[in-house]
Amino acid sequence: MASTPRTAVRQVGSRTDISARTLEFHHDHHHRAYVDKLNKLIAGTSFDRMPLEEIILASSKSEQKKNVDIFNNAAQAWNHTFLWNCMRAKGGGKPNGGLGRQLDQAFGGLDKFHEQFKARRSASSAALCLARPR
Ligand SMILES: [Fe+2]
Repeated sequence: MASTPRTAVRQVGSRTDISARTLEFHHDHHHRAYVDKLNKLIAGTSFDRMPLEEIILASSKSEQKKNVDIFNNAAQAWNHTFLWNCMRAKGGGKPNGGLGRQLDQAFGGLDKFHEQFKARRSASSAALCLARPR
């Protein structure tokens, strides 16, 4: 059974560029809806006792409508949990060390990264994930 991490949302509070109201909305409506729908879809199935990551992997291997719905809701629940886990109350600011140097090299500094970040995110999404290969 999936769940939503209320504690992480409360800890972040108003310490980000995103308002507390927006965070609460994403937690209480988006995330809650994905989790509730997923739990209904997997009740009594082999997915019911799997960790969320296993549900995503297992459901991605089938194109049956129910498995596609399970995948979509599980992946969105995971995405929201990942977002909450990336935030912290005193987070933010210019990154130090290697990440800061890499942002300088790749984007010309944090401000230019922010400009490109805002330009590239889709109109329907408030988030964009920055990742680097290992
Ligand atoms: Fe959301």
